[in-house]
Amino acid sequence: MKDLWTAVDRYFEGVLFPDDPVLTQVLAACGDAGLPPIQISPGQGMLLFLLARIQGASKILEFGTLGGYSGIWLARALGNGGQLVTLEADPQHARVAASNFERAGLSGVVDLRVGPALKTLSGLREEGCGPFDFFFIDADKKNIPHYLAWSLKLARPGSVIVVDNIVQGGAVIEKDKGDEGIQGVRRMFEMISEDPGLAATAIQTVGRKGYDGFLVALVEEEHVVV
Ligand code: SAH
Ligand code: DHB
Ligand code: MG
Repeated sequence: MKDLWTAVDRYFEGVLFPDDPVLTQVLAACGDAGLPPIQISPGQGMLLFLLARIQGASKILEFGTLGGYSGIWLARALGNGGQLVTLEADPQHARVAASNFERAGLSGVVDLRVGPALKTLSGLREEGCGPFDFFFIDADKKNIPHYLAWSLKLARPGSVIVVDNIVQGGAVIEKDKGDEGIQGVRRMFEMISEDPGLAATAIQTVGRKGYDGFLVALVEEEHVVV
């Protein structure tokens, strides 16, 4: 089925998005540098762009930069004076991302922080960064519960949180089995279910990246930060 899912993705991309030579170059640079090809798909990039535009985001926080592909979609959605802060643990990934942000003309609006996110997040808070309007969680899966907790600390009522890779090949439904990543995703779902201040849904997807899905959550007005 993956060939068909990929062909349908290509059809949608062809009819809906104009050719984007910058993004093509960005993906080529990621491939040349040997980065794993695990960036979001073009259709998912457009979805992030649309969600951020709809929400009117001017401060966005991304967990997991890789080569900057999703970050470019997000940064392009920013209003005037907006900023994307993006967190990446791997210095090689970060180097590629920095040059891709430059290539996309976005260096001025992207603040790329290199190091394990849980470390760079403390720094962000000490600097008084935030609140952020929009969060994209797409780094290591075992730490998703921490990234959700941090997002809530750095959010405001009305903030949107999107989490990638929440299906784990279907293993998300397995209570006792599974690796740390799967347990991380499951813990995130428990946190959300225990939090009356979050409205959320999870959508399964197929496409050029296979079978997966994403979560979208809204921080409600009455959300109480603990
Ligand atoms: N959002 C990217 C893809 C991210 S892939 C895109 O769609 O274009 C996941 C990234 O998270 C990898 O680059 C990996 O190095 C990074 N990562 C893994 N553990 C991390 C951590 N503890 N802190 C920050 N980044 C981490
Ligand atoms: C992997 C990570 C991702 O963020 C993704 O979208 C797909 C795969 C991975 O680590 O294998
Ligand atoms: Mg992902």
